[in-house]
Amino acid sequence: MAESVRIQVRADGPLVVSGPVELVDSRGERFPLAPGKSVYLCRCGQSAAKPFCDGSHRRVNFRSDPRAQPDQPSQHASDTSVE
Ligand code: FES
Repeated sequence: MAESVRIQVRADGPLVVSGPVELVDSRGERFPLAPGKSVYLCRCGQSAAKPFCDGSHRRVNFRSDPRAQPDQPSQHASDTSVE
């Protein structure tokens, strides 16, 4: 069975991506990632190292702690225009 990818929303912080992933920029170029390590993606928009979290969320007192609501259908990016 293939290893799955897990994305955790950290309270007031980044998205933590664990598992076999490939992260590419808008041109399809790969960001180098350390094998076996989780990737921390900025969610606050303040990182100087985007798309990675650099801890700036603490400095700007970023607050967001969305909770999963299993009984509600989610809205996926594919449902809306994101480009
Ligand atoms: S979430 Fe950490 S710098 Fe944005």
